[in-house]
Amino acid sequence: MSRSARWFAQDGVGGFIHRASMRAEGLGRAAMDGRPVVGICNCWSELVSCNLHFRSMAEAIKRGVLLAGGLPVEFPVITLGENLMKPTAMLYRNLMSMDVEESIRAYPFDAVVLMGGCDKTTPAQLMGAASAGVPAIMVTGGPSQPARFRGRRLGNGTDLWRYTDEVRAGTMSRDEFRLLEEAATPSVGHCTEMGTASTMAAMAEALGMALPGSSTIPATHAGRLRACEDTGARAVALASTGGPTPAEVMTEDAFHNALTVLAGLGGSTNAVIHLVAIAGRLGVELGVDTLDAVLRRTPVVADVRPAGSGLVEDLHEAGGIPAVMSALEPLLRTEAVTVTGQTVRAALVPPAGSCVASLDRPVKPAGSLAVLRGNLAPLGALVKAGAATPGLLEHSGPAVVFDGMADMLARIDDDSLPVTADSVLVLRNAGPRAVPGMPEWGQLPIPRKLLAAGVTDMVRLSDARMSGTAFGTVVLHVAPEAGAGGPLALVRDGDPISLSLRERALTLDVPESVLTARRASARPPAPARRRGYQRLYVDHVLQADQGCDFDFLRYAADDEPIPDGPIDTGWAGGW
Ligand code: FES
Repeated sequence: MSRSARWFAQDGVGGFIHRASMRAEGLGRAAMDGRPVVGICNCWSELVSCNLHFRSMAEAIKRGVLLAGGLPVEFPVITLGENLMKPTAMLYRNLMSMDVEESIRAYPFDAVVLMGGCDKTTPAQLMGAASAGVPAIMVTGGPSQPARFRGRRLGNGTDLWRYTDEVRAGTMSRDEFRLLEEAATPSVGHCTEMGTASTMAAMAEALGMALPGSSTIPATHAGRLRACEDTGARAVALASTGGPTPAEVMTEDAFHNALTVLAGLGGSTNAVIHLVAIAGRLGVELGVDTLDAVLRRTPVVADVRPAGSGLVEDLHEAGGIPAVMSALEPLLRTEAVTVTGQTVRAALVPPAGSCVASLDRPVKPAGSLAVLRGNLAPLGALVKAGAATPGLLEHSGPAVVFDGMADMLARIDDDSLPVTADSVLVLRNAGPRAVPGMPEWGQLPIPRKLLAAGVTDMVRLSDARMSGTAFGTVVLHVAPEAGAGGPLALVRDGDPISLSLRERALTLDVPESVLTARRASARPPAPARRRGYQRLYVDHVLQADQGCDFDFLRYAADDEPIPDGPIDTGWAGGW
């Protein structure tokens, strides 16, 4: 018996109610004749311009489902918009994943199409589907049309950060900056460079959860609607055969492939957190050593900003993710089976054009994304070395410490701030529990007096994240965070801090006896009293090394199984 039949094929009053409920929507007997029911999990909203085309995408998915003989049923979930949602969309990723999981489990779907676009919506969908266990396939929204300004094609975020520094340095006028605002986002779709949204779309493909070649199709291209139609048809096949399920697709091999593609793309640091969280839902351990091993040996082969020079539309022209995976083939586990039912190897296509390089002559050498460890980050930290200043990746300098965002904003441009180009800017109390939600504050601004002197990069470190579109010598995700007792809380102004990419080390060069004394005398501020979801979040969020998921959402073998589907109450009950 199919999953949906447990609702609709019941003989008693329960089945009557279930069928009558669908008939109330105008569905006739032919639509309800036992065909597979495919849910379309839509996170459309007028508050998220990146996902504003999801209604037309959903119509194309429905067409594919109908043509393949299924019954499409669209349903909404909360959506997460990177730009308007405060304090940070990351705070709500786990909430959306719970919405996705419970919606899938509670309703009569035989398979589900997951729609993701703006940064956090893609991992939230994958996390929820992983936990729900019903066969699922993902289609993402695609990159927007690139903006053009001063004769240049822009990356939505990468170039915004550059122009922001120009305004602060006085080399761009406020009027010009206003003109940039008009030009910045010319269409629906997610950011156009290898930021978090594009990276996570690529991860969905590399994990085997999306159709090969689908993630890089521009948002406004008709090919995206055709990919939606194909995705709907494939969902019907998944529903008919009962799989493969997310756990059968997202195996250890699939995560190995995804991490390799992440490194090959020079992708977003945020993707590491999200991959660890998705894996945690399935009992696949992605520890620091696993990350380190893959990242150390994988060079950047995609020439896309911020690690390279092109945009996602160029990558698409060069063959998209199947071409990147083809270039990385010797490093991949190509026998992994994807949601298509075929192996990764079957979908590889040779790269066409210079946007995808080879392992022999990569865009950047291995290590463009690196895990750091040391007494300042016992549970690890990340640096996007491929988007950093090479000369700063072996650096020691005195700390300039900020105790949070408000403190940083109050002092960063103060001419009396004791800072030089050699200083290491430290921001703490910006981790998962502190704000809460681990906002993208890690790319601390260069102090204005240094900008004016021509300094464009410095070593910066924090327990925060940064936008996947950002660049600079920025150490992120320092774990444990200061607010969870991490050693970042012990740093004082002037302490020497060393960063060594070669040694993969982040070191606070202060004697352990001094740190012990500081720890003993530390008086952490009393945690703020929070209500509702924020209290749930602060009480249960894990650190970055565990993907910032909630402790009770990770896979546990001894969890009580959740009943799947209705209980047949016969003729007696069910009202
Ligand atoms: Fe939505 Fe970048 S703001 S994808």
